[in-house]
Amino acid sequence: MLRRPRRLRANKAIRNLVRETKLNVEDLIYPLFVVEGEGIKSEISSLPDVYHFSIDKLAEEIEELKELGIEHVILFGIPHDHEKDACGSEGYNDNGIIQRAIRKIKEVDSEMNVITDVCMCEYTSHGHCGILTEGGYVDNDQTLEYLAKIAVSHVKAGADMVAPSDMMDGRIQAIREALDKEGFEHIAIMSYSVKYASTFYGPFREAANSAPAFGDRKTYQMDPANTNEAIIESELDVLEGADILMVKPALSYLDVIRRVKDNFDLPLAAYNVSGEYAMLKSAVKNGILAEGAIYESVMSIKRAGADIIITYFAKDLAKMLKK
Ligand code: PBG
Repeated sequence: MLRRPRRLRANKAIRNLVRETKLNVEDLIYPLFVVEGEGIKSEISSLPDVYHFSIDKLAEEIEELKELGIEHVILFGIPHDHEKDACGSEGYNDNGIIQRAIRKIKEVDSEMNVITDVCMCEYTSHGHCGILTEGGYVDNDQTLEYLAKIAVSHVKAGADMVAPSDMMDGRIQAIREALDKEGFEHIAIMSYSVKYASTFYGPFREAANSAPAFGDRKTYQMDPANTNEAIIESELDVLEGADILMVKPALSYLDVIRRVKDNFDLPLAAYNVSGEYAMLKSAVKNGILAEGAIYESVMSIKRAGADIIITYFAKDLAKMLKK
């Protein structure tokens, strides 16, 4: 035998040397859920080891992330129920939950890269990601104005990057123009370009109290059966000025990640979503799978072509990568 692939698997150092894909803590973005109130750090029942934080409790968490080498967070705000209305106006309140959280994080650690999810579903009384027409359809063009207001308000509060997750047509251009008009042309947009209408968001909607009060999100989020559409959505975002593209969810859409990566040169993010986390985390917590399954599964996302991974496993991975 002339060819013996096992030679390059002979010991740990050789395996490290020839490893094609490397997962780094720099690749990871950690999601944070911020709630109103004081002294709150409470575990989210649908997401083991992930917490709701009130603003006064964020400092501790930011210090922990910093110690682990995690440099990026993406923020989700949960307002009081009575602050929700039909047009999600709390979302662009300069003193809203997210805006105060951004200021707090920047005060604790000015180098933490603060990314914000720009969407309306956590702030609307009906739980949809936009303004509704009388018939209950999400009005695309009217919604754009609100998304732009939300993004500007986040950046005014100190956000380093905005990440629109609503899936309206034309939102990247609308947000880009609004940011530029306010003098924020240096702020990048990470677009949730390819976002499917997925059941894997279930635990998140419980955590963010953002499930739609009626119907579903299928008139704006993508059909899980489609991948040509992923190319169209990505292309539009490139043309509209997105700086980073994203595929979401990740694990059931690895083929889509690869396809987008092969077709576009922008950095590509993938969102390892709440349902993907909850399944695997429960299996590890219950001793059904060893912890290595977490590394293997997030590695598959990187190997598929994602440069950046948003994951609730970021802290677990940072610890594993340190060892
Ligand atoms: C807001 C938003 C959602 C997620 C991220 N941003 C929920 C949704 O679209 O219903 C899901 C994230 C996750 O499941 O971890 N639109």
